[in-house]
Order: sequence, then structure tokens, then C-alpha cells
Amino acid sequence: MKDKSTGIIIRILKLTKPHWKLFAGFIIAIIFTAFLDSLGTYITKLIIDEGIMVENLEKVIYYCKLFGITYLLNSISFFTFIYCAGRLGEWMQFDLREKLFNHIQELSFSFFDRSSTGWLLSRISSDTEKMADLATWMLLDSIWAFFNIIISLIFMAIINIKLALIMALILPLLVLIAGKFKIHILGEYRKVRSLNSKITAAFSESFSGVKIVKALTREKTNLRDFGGLTGEMYHTSYRAAWLSAFFLPAVQLIITLALGAILWFGGWQIELGFMTIGGLRAFIGFITFMLWPIQDLARVFSGMQQSIAAAERVFGLLDTPSDIQDKFEAMEDASYKGDIEFKNVSFSYKKDSPVLSNFNLSIKAGETVAIVGPTGGGKTTIASLISRYYEPEEGQILMDGVDNRDYTQKALQSRIGVVLQKPHLFSGTIRENIEYGKPGASFDEIINAAKTANSYNMITSLKNKWDEIVGEDGTMLSQGQKQLISLTRAVLASPDILIMDEATSAIDTLTEKDIQKGIEALLEDRTSIIIAHRLSTIKDADRILVVENGKIKEEGDHTKLLKNRGHYYELYTSQFRRERTAAIGLLE
Ligand SMILES: Nc1ncnc2c1ncn2[C@@H]1O[C@H](COP(=O)(O)OP(=O)(O)OP(=O)(O)O)[C@@H](O)[C@H]1O
Ligand SMILES: [Mg+2]
Repeated sequence: MKDKSTGIIIRILKLTKPHWKLFAGFIIAIIFTAFLDSLGTYITKLIIDEGIMVENLEKVIYYCKLFGITYLLNSISFFTFIYCAGRLGEWMQFDLREKLFNHIQELSFSFFDRSSTGWLLSRISSDTEKMADLATWMLLDSIWAFFNIIISLIFMAIINIKLALIMALILPLLVLIAGKFKIHILGEYRKVRSLNSKITAAFSESFSGVKIVKALTREKTNLRDFGGLTGEMYHTSYRAAWLSAFFLPAVQLIITLALGAILWFGGWQIELGFMTIGGLRAFIGFITFMLWPIQDLARVFSGMQQSIAAAERVFGLLDTPSDIQDKFEAMEDASYKGDIEFKNVSFSYKKDSPVLSNFNLSIKAGETVAIVGPTGGGKTTIASLISRYYEPEEGQILMDGVDNRDYTQKALQSRIGVVLQKPHLFSGTIRENIEYGKPGASFDEIINAAKTANSYNMITSLKNKWDEIVGEDGTMLSQGQKQLISLTRAVLASPDILIMDEATSAIDTLTEKDIQKGIEALLEDRTSIIIAHRLSTIKDADRILVVENGKIKEEGDHTKLLKNRGHYYELYTSQFRRERTAAIGLLE
């Protein structure tokens, strides 16, 4: 465990390498400050012994000037290390965030199945901050405390070696007592924090699911769970507060006892002529200097534990290889005629629960293939495998006869357009969101694309038209409006292969009819795969596949499948009946 922590600390410190000048400046300035602190205290001894005690005003003035200069220099070096530490910390956070961001972007889909956005965000935001803290403020505290103690002890030994030795013996004891105590307190506070985050989680869960909670009348149960948490929180906070109230007076008492002992022994040494009054005064100064970092040691120690834990998570993430790696000799350019073939493909998300086994499918260039079937049947999985968001465990997926693993992921995906059920719009304007499909497209191209996808009227009826801000903190667009924008994006991109996964499910039937022409234009001359629950949208497909439990149960065009009176017929007639009943219900 210890070795592991050391390894991690070393790895964190290595991150300061590109900014070694700041790092060196920061360390030198701390050592310098510790030295000047002690020197100042030593000068007070000289003022008393060589000036005041022998009534030599000249010496008093001389040493006072020296004292002034020491403290001026001290302020400068103080400023230097705070400045260097601050800059270094910012740089480290910047570097780490950039590294993480780049790495996360390269990870495969399966990684995102396992990790939530919230988890990733806290790695990027709070963990990097904690890591930078270790390399700056915590290192600063430790180095400062260490040199303070060493340099003070040296000066003390110069004044009186016996007293310095006694101090050197008391010191570890103090460190131990203060440390133990503080660790206990911090432990309690850690409990408080973890309870607090549980409470916050309970809050956010109840709030975001408030409608469901109400619908299921779970309010009472939720309230009871919540009450248990807050009760525990109260007791833990109470204990923590009690302990910390006790801590300072206890440490103060120990310090006072130590000072008393030093005064007593020092007085005796003065009596014997082994020490001066100024020396004793300086001694007391040194002790106070040494003691305050000791009081703080436990806090630094616990902060370090937290930083190490944070670093472990961040390094763990940085060291996670992508499940999907480009081959060394992979082709970096792709353009397809559009033949796609699944050859004996087997695939599972989790071991032992195969989604596809020995799956075969051949799609010809220019063909429009629709995939329908019950939920969980494997439709989205088939589409994801083409784009190589996941790789088959066995078998091959051939694009124009070439294994899709022979292309780089970037090249492969650049020529495949995917429109999803829940499209994502980025923070920015509508125009930027559409342009994402073809960076650098002219405004005319964008307008044409919008006309084809039939989003033109929708967009121009928005208040700011093309410049309407959407996404995280912009206008709330409906799911259907988002799908229209995303469709426009695909039209603009004009990919070789188009995959639409429930892409028009949230668009109302009337608008869907309107955009049908646009979609037809989009499908023309290119291989397209359309996944839809609403069967009216796929009637015109060249071939319809009914996929259930990862198998093609039936295939053919609409008329043939209806004639077959099989799965498709069932699906179609039941949907048709449902729609008709709904329509009649509406009329009544
Ligand atoms: N990311 C994932 N991790 C683990 N299992 C998954 C994942 N995605 C899908 N599955 C599982 O794989 C199977 C096929 O899912 P898939 O999403 O391909 O079905 P689908 O036909 O697209 O369904 P729907 O019509 O509901 O979209 C399901 O049993 C599902 O639970
Ligand atoms: Mg799906």
C-alpha cells in the first residue's frame, strides 16, 4: 500500500516536469522562507543580548535594520512561492484535463456503457484539482514544515545544545498526539461528507423522479429513508463538532506545558550562565514556529490520502485502453460503394448472453433495408456493429468486401451517417449544429439541406432563426424538432451509408409525411438501413428484415411479407388496428 502511494506521488510529481522552472522556484522559495523565518528569530536574540541587555543603542539599531531587511526578503520569497504554487497548480489541472479529455474521446462505446457521465465529470473536474493540490499546496505545507523544524533546530542548537536536544525529543511525541487526534476528527468529518453526498443523491433522485414518485405514491417510503439518513448525519456531525472543540484546547495545553518546561529548564541554564535571556526568548519563538505546522500535519496527511485516491482514479482512467484499437496498418481513407456483409458474426455485450450468434446478412450497394422487430431484438446492435462502435467476437463485417477493422475508426465512421432516436444537439446555434455534418459548408448548402429534410419552415419560424441557441443552456426544442435538425445534419453530410435508428419516432405523422420526400431523396443512391417501430415509414424499403432474438425471422418487401402472413403481417396488422382505434377514439 505504502509503495503504491509512493509510486502515485512520484507519478504526480512527474507531471510537473514541463513546468520544472515553476516547480524549482517554488521549492527554493519555501526553503529560503523557512531559513529567513529562523534568521529573523535569531536576530531578536542578538537585539536583546548584544543591544538591550548591554544598553548599546547602535547595535540595537543595526540589528533592527538587519531584521527589517530579513523580513523584506521574506515577503518577497513568500510571494514567490505562493505565486509559483498557484501557477503550477493551474497548469497541472489544465494539462491533466486536456489529457483526460483526449483520452476519453478515444475510448470505445463499451467504456461509456460502464461509466456514467457524472462519474467522468468528477474525474475531470474535482479529481484533477485534488491532484494539483498535492503537487502544490500539500507539498508546500510538508516541505515548509520539514525545513522549519530542521532549520529551527539548528539555530536552537547554536543557542543551547541541551535544550535543543530536549526539544528534539519532545517533538515526535507532539506530532504523534496531535496527529492521532486530528485523524480521528477528520475521520468523523469524512463520515459527515459521505452522508451528505448520500443525502444529496437522495434529493436529486427524488426530485428528478418526482413525477414517478408521485405516480407510484412512494412519497412516504422516500421520506422515511430520507429521515434515517438525516438522523445519522445529525449524530455524526455532533460527534465531529465535539471532538474538534476539544482538539485546540488540548493541543494548546500540551504546548503550554512544553513551553513551561522549556522556560523552567532555560531559566536554570541562564542561572548557570549557559544561556542568555535573548537566547531563551528566541527559543520560545522557534518553538511556536515549529508547532503550528505540527498542528496542521494531520490535515495535510489526510488531504494527501484524498489526493492519492483521486490520482489513482485519474491514472486508472488514463491507463484504460480502448477496447477497440486501430490496426497499425489500418487505412486512413474510406469511401464505399456501399456493399455491407455480416459473415458469421457473433456478438455479446456481456459474456454468456449473446445478442447475435452466427449472424449473416448481405446488403447490396444502394439498397434500402429496413429492420423491424420487437424491442431488445438486436436492431440497434446490428447498426452499431457496422459503424464499429463495437467489434464482433467472431466473424467479420465486410464493407465492399473489406473487413471494417482494416480501416481506422475515424475513416470508417466519417463515411457513415447515423441518425439516432435521441439526437444530441451541442450548445451553439442551429446553424452550427447542422454544419457539424460537414464542417465548412456554405450557408446555401445548409439551407438546401434544410429544405430537403423539411426542417426549413421549423427553423425559420424560430425567433432567431438560424442563430437560435440550442443545447444545454439554449432554447428547449422538442424531441421531434431535434430529430429534424439531426436529419438535416445527415443530409448535409451526404454519407456513403446512412443508418437511421428510430430517427423519426418523435416526429408526428403529418410532419413525417412531409419529410418523407426529403428522406426518400436522402436514401436515393446510397445504402441505407432504417430501423423503425412505426411500420408506415418503411413500407417503401427495398427489403424488410424482421429481427427477433438476434435472428432474421423473415425478409422480403412489404407486399411479399404481407402475403406471407407471418411475423411482419402480425406486426403490421396489430399496429394498423391500434392506430385506427386511436384515431376513432380521437374522433369521438
Ligand atoms: N450497451 C449495452 N450493454 C449491455 N447490453 C445491451 C446494451 N445495448 C443493448 N443491450 C442488450 O442487447 C440486446 C439487443 O439490444 P438492442 O438495443 O440491439 O435491441 P433493439 O432491437 O434495438 O431494441 P429497441 O427496439 O428497444 O431499440 C438487448 O437484450 C439489450 O438488453
Ligand atoms: Mg434500438
